Amino acid sequence: MTTVSKGTAAICSFAFVLSLAAGIACAQAPATKPFNASTASEANWWKNAVIYEVYPRSFQDTNGDGIGDLKGITEHLDYLQELGVSAIWLTPVYPSPNADYGYDVADYRDINPEYGSLADFDHLVAEAKKRNIRVIMDMVMNHTSDENTWFVQSRSSRTDPYRDWYVWRDGKGETATSQGGPPNNWGGYGRSSWQWDPTTRQYYYHHFSVHQPDLNWYNPAIEQEFKEITAYWLKLGVAGFRFDAIGTLFEDPTYSDEAPLLDKNGKPVLDSHGHPMLQRTKEGNLPQVHTVMQQMRANIDRFDTGAFPGTRVLIGEIFSRNTSDLLKWYGTSQKPEFQLPMDQQVGFVNKLDVSAFRKRITEAETELDGNVPLLVFDNHDRDRMDVRYGDGIHDVAIQRVLATILFESGGASLMYYGDEIGMKTTPPKTKADVKDTMTGLANWPKYKGRDGERTPMQWNAGLNAGFSTATPWLPVPSSASSINVQAEKNDPDSLLAWYRALIRLKKITPALERGANTMLDTSNTKVLSWKRQAPGAPAVLVSVNFTATPQTVDLSGAGKGALQTLLKSPGGSPPTRPDHITLAPFGIYIGELR
Ligand code: NOJ
Repeated sequence: MTTVSKGTAAICSFAFVLSLAAGIACAQAPATKPFNASTASEANWWKNAVIYEVYPRSFQDTNGDGIGDLKGITEHLDYLQELGVSAIWLTPVYPSPNADYGYDVADYRDINPEYGSLADFDHLVAEAKKRNIRVIMDMVMNHTSDENTWFVQSRSSRTDPYRDWYVWRDGKGETATSQGGPPNNWGGYGRSSWQWDPTTRQYYYHHFSVHQPDLNWYNPAIEQEFKEITAYWLKLGVAGFRFDAIGTLFEDPTYSDEAPLLDKNGKPVLDSHGHPMLQRTKEGNLPQVHTVMQQMRANIDRFDTGAFPGTRVLIGEIFSRNTSDLLKWYGTSQKPEFQLPMDQQVGFVNKLDVSAFRKRITEAETELDGNVPLLVFDNHDRDRMDVRYGDGIHDVAIQRVLATILFESGGASLMYYGDEIGMKTTPPKTKADVKDTMTGLANWPKYKGRDGERTPMQWNAGLNAGFSTATPWLPVPSSASSINVQAEKNDPDSLLAWYRALIRLKKITPALERGANTMLDTSNTKVLSWKRQAPGAPAVLVSVNFTATPQTVDLSGAGKGALQTLLKSPGGSPPTRPDHITLAPFGIYIGELR
């Protein structure tokens, strides 16, 4: 540990000297060589991991069809290594008719030919391993594509062996001549969760789109099938799975109607599209899912020994209302479930509100029974951070602020491709341009779907931002002329340089890697400050200005000593004492207390 700590100081003072000479801030000199430094043991790699979400369709096209592919990801592994990522999570790359771009799986044991082959996948995993980057697969267990052969068979006859793999029910009030209504009132956003199938004259249940029939998890064959599927990918060398929509695996077995959602005056609550909402307590969060998760965890843990050494992780797509909801997804020490259920509480505050961030970071620190939070600020389903947090003037500075919280407030961090260069949400211009037709058409133009956050990665200012030589499946935003990897790579003030510096610090500074958090200056509503402290290592202070005006904070309550700057955003001179830290608009300071 001492060596690492000395190393940290040495790296910083070197960068700091350089930075003074060049007139730039400490540690903003671009990383010169790749690193994977971490004091975490192999078994604990995930506790301080930086996981990078790749949307394969939009990362890099290598065969000139305008669609990203696996070879394109392999091509950029050096870039990812230099950024410092520990693992990449691939959104689904299985064969799929693309009603939901991979989240409608047609075959769980193959690769979508648009993205390549199993051989390309093997090559990607092998090349990633050489760079100490792990590959995490998306596993969609709630539903399949309606073109999956399981469903094709299931809908072919009421007596087919696959019939019970899906959820089939008679219509309500069905007669010999009429199909009746849907079996119950489940659904949302103006649509039913049931679809009539004329061949076998029953309704099937689909929590998501009509092309995504739900699997029947009350049938033990389903669990067995997914145990085999996950083992299949583990043997191919994956480091774990991100379990999609895990909360909706089971439905209330009575299939009774949901009650309407009423406000405190007893009036119906309307959704963002003006439809009356239901309580939606019966389509998900049933306790049975935890038993399945315990089994799944035991299954992957078995791979940690014997022929497949290493530690695999399970990441959960969790939507929790509060920390106690989130806590349930970790399981217990006897019956563990996810190592990393997503904490979307912190990253989706969606406004620059110091108190809200302070509260949620504190909850993640103190109310998860010592489990590791996985912070998430962005993904392929939500507007990027520019829309959710930007003010149109200071967007880059604001994204530095958010990245600082993502990487330095403790736990593991999940980032989304393109965030490191500040890619902007760019929704389709016309309804005819929408590719995410599943969500992007019904409420156009109020809601434009998810294409805006899935545009091609911006590698350079050339043709199609270097993503493809052909017309890309989604248009490249005009902002790519200045927001791109090539432009930012050698700019010490770029967002990319900031991301690299933060990730490097997170990996090599003991207090940031594994320290405990204490919030500082807790009545301040303009600046968020915290201390991280690990035994035997200097404490680190982090201070982040959430406003467009300069601020000064006194963090002498954190302890005595001189400050040694680890990283600061551009502007102003570095402080030397904790009682007087000046911060530029949206400025950030990270320093060791020595
Ligand atoms: C969550 C995924 O992130 C989203 O993209 C998908 O549409 C749904 N689950 C359904 O699989």
